[in-house]
Amino acid sequence: MSLIHASTIQITKASTSKIHSVDFDNLEFGKVFTDHMFVCDYEDGEWQNPQIIPYQALSMEPSARVFHYGQAVFEGMKAYKDEKDQIWLFRPDQNFERINKSSKRLAIPEFPEAYFFNGLNELLKLDSEWIKPGVGNSLYLRPFVIATEPAISASPARSYKFLIICSPAKAYYNEPVRVLFAEKFSRSANGGVGFAKAAGNYAAQFYPTSLAQQKGFQQIIWTDANTHDYLEEAGTMNIFFRIGDKLLTAPTNDRILDGVTRKSVIQLAEDLGIECEVRAVKVSEIKEAAGNGTLKEIFGAGTAAVISEISAFEHADDVFELAHVEEGSYGSLFKSHLLDIQHNKAEDAHDWRYLVK
Ligand code: COI
Repeated sequence: MSLIHASTIQITKASTSKIHSVDFDNLEFGKVFTDHMFVCDYEDGEWQNPQIIPYQALSMEPSARVFHYGQAVFEGMKAYKDEKDQIWLFRPDQNFERINKSSKRLAIPEFPEAYFFNGLNELLKLDSEWIKPGVGNSLYLRPFVIATEPAISASPARSYKFLIICSPAKAYYNEPVRVLFAEKFSRSANGGVGFAKAAGNYAAQFYPTSLAQQKGFQQIIWTDANTHDYLEEAGTMNIFFRIGDKLLTAPTNDRILDGVTRKSVIQLAEDLGIECEVRAVKVSEIKEAAGNGTLKEIFGAGTAAVISEISAFEHADDVFELAHVEEGSYGSLFKSHLLDIQHNKAEDAHDWRYLVK
């Protein structure tokens, strides 16, 4: 595929910036957006008219298919600034591949690589002031595609919008997370869309998660839909278990998101000489390990969540509290390694960093 030139993207700058009204020390995740956004339309069988425009409301007919059938996919990425004010992305090739994999499953036309990368580069250069340096600061990027065709027959749209919006972010979870292991509801099933970042995958979790929250648990670790015996993922993050000195995590399949942070943790574990088994993880073995004291840690891994400690889980009315590991926590080790690579503070042995130019 030939790369488009940046000048192909039409840029309209915002007349004023909102940045001075933002309290960067007290950010609520995903509530504040930068001055600009990237937009590209799919019409007449091709992606066209890539633009960067001031962040603004969209105008769409109420019959747009996205409102009726949820034909929408998205990605989560982050941009980081180092001490020399250089802007970095982390493994953006993975997000590009995954949004097109998600799109394909939802019958959405794949997005061109050149538009994706040039759009990101130009947008980040324009909104670079919004990326604060320092480990813990980032700009969360939300590329997404929606079906805009005004028509309500249940079939794929003929027109779409691809957008990228940006939101300054710190941690998604400020505290260790308490989770329920799912016993009744399911997030995904064989042959379904669980592997895709389809908007509906997330909406479908809100009701069961709100029930979990009423019981004092912030998240659910989903189990396989057939038996509820195997632990899969948490919806906002993939999950790792540490039993003794060994890590366990579920293999990806058509029910589980192929998380970029997940695969980076698996690689870092290998680099650091930590044994990591990628295999089906039974609820019963985790309960047994919690009971006999060999379950040392559970943590989630995701772009927004980074690495988030899980401090307790509940299953079948049994509640297990996990003691915080002060010394030698695997979760803390992976978190600091990842953040140092992302912020250009450590060697990037696998070429994961991408310099925005
Ligand atoms: C991400 O980590 O980027 C996600 O998409 C999770 C989302 C629920 C914030």
